[in-house]
Amino acid sequence: MAETLSIPQTANRQAIYDSLIPQIAALVEGEPDLVANLANIAAALKEAFGFFWVGFYLKKDNQLVLGPFQGPIACTRIAFGKGVCGASYTRRETILVPDVEQFPGHIACSSASKSEIVVPVFDRSGNVTMVLDVDSDQLNDFSEVDANGLEQIAQLITNF
Ligand code: SME
Repeated sequence: MAETLSIPQTANRQAIYDSLIPQIAALVEGEPDLVANLANIAAALKEAFGFFWVGFYLKKDNQLVLGPFQGPIACTRIAFGKGVCGASYTRRETILVPDVEQFPGHIACSSASKSEIVVPVFDRSGNVTMVLDVDSDQLNDFSEVDANGLEQIAQLITNF
């Protein structure tokens, strides 16, 4: 396993995802521990993009519970269907929110969070097992480039 990431010095997020995704694949390859892998993925995304907050909420019993993350402390439990994370879980789809104040029911863990993207992670049977949540302190900070890149990372988790 490589001990450092090589991140291209560019503002082009597509180029960063293109470089990062194979490195994340190598990082988690051969490591069966879920928490270890999620922790490294959160750290890799934080290092590569400088996101304000990036982390996972895992399905446990009948709610989503905070998992490995990077950034300020966050809400620990989210009900299915609540907030952007709960909506992504229930709808089983990526949700891109350009302005969190315009999303009904958005859960404000931090008042600094302005835009957000949440991607569901599936198991091999197609059940949603967790969501990957990324928050920005800038409005309208996420695009289809992020949706595609983060969905590819979610796919790596499915394949653990
Ligand atoms: N804003 C999220 C809650 C999680 S935090 O932002 C880390 C939501 O509405 O689901």
